Amino acid sequence: MLRVIYKQKDDSSQQLEIPDDAQSVMKAAVNNRVKGIIGECGGVMQCATCHVYVDEDIADSLPPISDQEDEMLEGVATERTEHSRLSCQLFCSTVPVEELTVYVPETQY
Ligand code: FES
Repeated sequence: MLRVIYKQKDDSSQQLEIPDDAQSVMKAAVNNRVKGIIGECGGVMQCATCHVYVDEDIADSLPPISDQEDEMLEGVATERTEHSRLSCQLFCSTVPVEELTVYVPETQY
């Protein structure tokens, strides 16, 4: 079980408990109508509308960014930082903490 806190630019947040290890942070957000995470391609790394920023202290513990994710992150709508990830590539089973905070960018387009 992973708890994900989705923080918005306006300081509001939504917290989800995700029981399915195979689910991604994007899919859980879309299923629960979290504002600002679109996931237009369904998670096959073709849209980059699932961009999030992760906390600095967890960034290095997450699975490494693949070449395809890296390429897609080049096209995100808001500034890419060293903490940028595609939330469709963050699967609950691969997040090594019980609680993950992600920061939703202002826009995905
Ligand atoms: S959902 Fe399309 S790249 Fe993540």
